[in-house]
Amino acid sequence: MRRKVTVVGAGMTGGTIAQRLAETGYIDVVMIDIIEGLPQGKALDLAQSAPVIGFDARIIGTNDWKETAGSDVVVVTSGVPRKPGMTREELLNTNAAIVRDVCQRAIEHSPDAIFVMFANPMDAMCHVAKEVTGLPRWRIVGQGGMLDSARYRTFIAWEVGCSVEDVHAYVLGGHTEATMVPIVSTAMVAGIPLAHLLPKERIEAVVQRTRQGGAEIVSLLKTGSAFYAPAAATQAMVEAILLDKKRILPCCAYLEGEYGITGAFTGVPVRLGAGGVEAIYEAPLTLDELEGLRRAADAVKELVALVR
Ligand code: 2OP
Repeated sequence: MRRKVTVVGAGMTGGTIAQRLAETGYIDVVMIDIIEGLPQGKALDLAQSAPVIGFDARIIGTNDWKETAGSDVVVVTSGVPRKPGMTREELLNTNAAIVRDVCQRAIEHSPDAIFVMFANPMDAMCHVAKEVTGLPRWRIVGQGGMLDSARYRTFIAWEVGCSVEDVHAYVLGGHTEATMVPIVSTAMVAGIPLAHLLPKERIEAVVQRTRQGGAEIVSLLKTGSAFYAPAAATQAMVEAILLDKKRILPCCAYLEGEYGITGAFTGVPVRLGAGGVEAIYEAPLTLDELEGLRRAADAVKELVALVR
C-alpha cells in the first residue's frame, strides 16, 4: 500500500523533496503552496517523469488543504529563504507566522501525521509547530542535523581523501552557524578516530566550513538556499518513519531532561520509526561538546521568547 506525504511549500526545497519521495514509488505526494499554479505545475511535470523513471506514485499539486487529508507525514518547508548575509534567526517572525498557519491547517486535515519541520530558523519553528498543533514530542521532528552532518561528512571525506560512505560523523545542537555542534570526539572514518587521521588545524577547518555550510551555498546562489542536500536529508527521515526503519539519525527533538536540557528542541541522535521520535540517545560527549549542546538549547529558548 502506498503512503501519503504532504510537502508544504513548492519552492526548490519542497519540489526536490517531492521528487525524491515520489521516485521511491511507494509514496503519494501532495505538494501544497499558497502560490496558485506553482504546485500544480511542478506536480504535473513530476508526474510526467514517472513513465521514464518508472514509478506509479500519485503526485498532486494544490492550494487546497482538503487534498492533504489523511497524510502519514507532513513535511513543512514553507517560509522565505535567507538572502545573502542574512542569518536564519532574522527570518524568525516572518516564518513563524507562516509556519503557525500551515501547521494549524495541516493538523486539521491529517490529525495522525508526524511532522517533519524544515522551515528556518528550524529549531524555533519546531516550537511553533508543537505549540500550534499541541502534538506530543515524538510527533514533531526537525530536519537540520541530518543536513549539517551530511555536510560535515562530505568535508571530512574530501579532506581525508576517502569515500563519504565510510565517514561517520554527527552534528548535534542547533541548526545555526553559532549553535551547531560538529562532534569531533566520536567522528570516525571506517572505525578510525578522525583525530588519528587529520591534524588539529585541518579538523578545525572542516568544522568551520561545516558551520558555514548553508551560508556558503546562499552566497554562491545569490537567491535562495540549498535544496539538494536538504531534500536528501528529509527523504531519509521520511523513509525511516514510513518504513519503520528505526534509523538513528541526528535530528531536532524536544528534550525533557536528556543531556540536562529541558523544554527545548535540540539536535540529538534520535531513533526514527513508525512512532516518529521513538527514542532519544545520550551520546558520550566531551564537556565542551555538552556545553555546546546546552548553549544551543538556551539559544533556541531565547529565540522562541522573541516569537510574536
Ligand atoms: C541550509 O542550511 C537551508 O537551512 C538550510 O542550507
